[in-house]
Order: sequence, then structure tokens, then C-alpha cells
Amino acid sequence: MARAGNKNIQAKLVLLGDMGAGKTSLVLRFVKGQFHEYQESTIGAAFFTQVLSLNEATVKFDIWDTAGQERYHSLAPMYYRGAAAAVVVYDLTSMDSFQRAKKWVLELQRQGNPKLIMFLVANKADLDEKRQVQNEEGEQYAKENGLSFLETSAKTAQNVNELFYEIVRKLLRMAAVDVPLVVVDVEDGISFGPLAREYFHMYTIFSADKTFSYSFQLYHILLHVERVMKLISNEKCCSENDHCS
Ligand code: GTP
Ligand code: MG
Repeated sequence: MARAGNKNIQAKLVLLGDMGAGKTSLVLRFVKGQFHEYQESTIGAAFFTQVLSLNEATVKFDIWDTAGQERYHSLAPMYYRGAAAAVVVYDLTSMDSFQRAKKWVLELQRQGNPKLIMFLVANKADLDEKRQVQNEEGEQYAKENGLSFLETSAKTAQNVNELFYEIVRKLLRMAAVDVPLVVVDVEDGISFGPLAREYFHMYTIFSADKTFSYSFQLYHILLHVERVMKLISNEKCCSENDHCS
């Protein structure tokens, strides 16, 4: 799972897809900047790590590159369980590999992790003359199933870094959502989460639209409620103890 803390995120990422789709090649392009014309088929799974530093955070990826051969299928849950992101890869010169990718998507949907970030990737975009799966077909399927979609080439590096940066952006957005803006507690009153003041301040400065106005109003209402709750708890405290500040 992705863990956010001090803007360091560690995320498990898994690649799934038919044999020969280019999973290992995509990872090697991303991690080592290499491409091998005769990449060996993966046995079981391979593990890689890579760190991406952005302005907002540093993300350490634990990448599981699974084997596409059917005989390794039963191992896959071990690798996708607990993953923050899954990349389902197909070879756009093979309709069979697209069908296989759809089966992976179904399997991931069935295992039911609503927070899993899923990407559908059509690899080998450099082989356009041999294309069997049209861009629109992949894009349409991804849209219908709530996945992000990209066409890549591990050979030319087209969209490879973009894929991983896109995953990071999604992870950061999810990590931000996981941090509560405002916590209201009957006993302790109101507290603002670490992002709250930053968030409202940002809207105050940059946004002139209605979202700003609503956020700003909400912020002030909450500040007011916070003051009232402090007063109440102080009064309660005074009535219970004589020596109360
Ligand atoms: P398994 O490990 O068997 O599941 O396959 P895989 O999905 O890891 O595929 P792999 O990366 O081994 O690539 C299979 C073959 O396709 C290799 O010969 C690669 O050189 C080639 N290949 C991978 N990506 C591309 C690409 O973007 N363009 C072209 N032209 N060839 C590619
Ligand atoms: Mg492989």
C-alpha cells in the first residue's frame, strides 16, 4: 500500500499482462534506461525498485514484474495483493494480448480494492504498421472500466516516464485525500488536518471562482465553530473545577 508521511511515499506497483507484451522491457526502460531486442521471458516474477523525486514528495516504487506465461498465473495474487497501483500491459500488434489484458482487468476488479490505481497500457507503439488494436479501442475499454490509458513504446521510450509520473500524481492525489482536512470530535472539538490551512490559504490567494468563495466561507464557519466549542468546553471546565484558567 502507499504510505504517506513527511511527504515520503512507498508504493507497491505490479505489472500484469500477456507474455511478450513488454512488461519487463517497460520496467527496464524506466529503471535502467535500457532496451533489449531479445529480452528473455520472465520466470515467476522479477523485483525492481526505483525512486522518483518530485517537488511535492519522494516516491519509492517497489515494482513486481510478473511473468505472463499461463503456468505462472496462479502466483499473480501474491504480487497484486496490497499493491497501490497495477499496470496491465498489452501488445498493440496482438489482439490476443488485448483480450488477455481484459481478463486481468476483470480479475483485479473482482479482488475488490477500490483504492487500486489501474493503468491500461498499449505497448509497442513503434510498430504502428503491425497494429491490430486501434488506439480508440483501448481508450474506450479503459474509459468504460475507469482505468487510465496510455500507448507506450519501451523501444523508443515513448510515454514510459510519463506512465510512472502519472501513477505518482495519482498516488499523491490519493494520499492527500487520505489526510482529513477537518476533524470534528465531540470531546476534543475541531482540529484542522495538516493540509487544511494550506488548502484554504491557497484558495484564498489563487482562486476567484465559486469554489473559493465556498471554501473560504466554510473555513470561517469552522473557525467560528471552533471558537464556540472552545468557549463551551471552557465553561464546562469552569463549572466542574473552581481553579480553571
Ligand atoms: P513475459 O516476461 O514473458 O511475460 O514477457 P514481457 O511482457 O516481460 O515482455 P518482454 O519485455 O520480455 O518483451 C517481449 C519482446 O518484445 C522482447 O523481444 C522485447 O524486445 C520486445 N519489446 C518489448 N517492448 C517493445 C516495444 O515497445 N517495441 C518493440 N518493437 N518491441 C518491444
Ligand atoms: Mg517479462
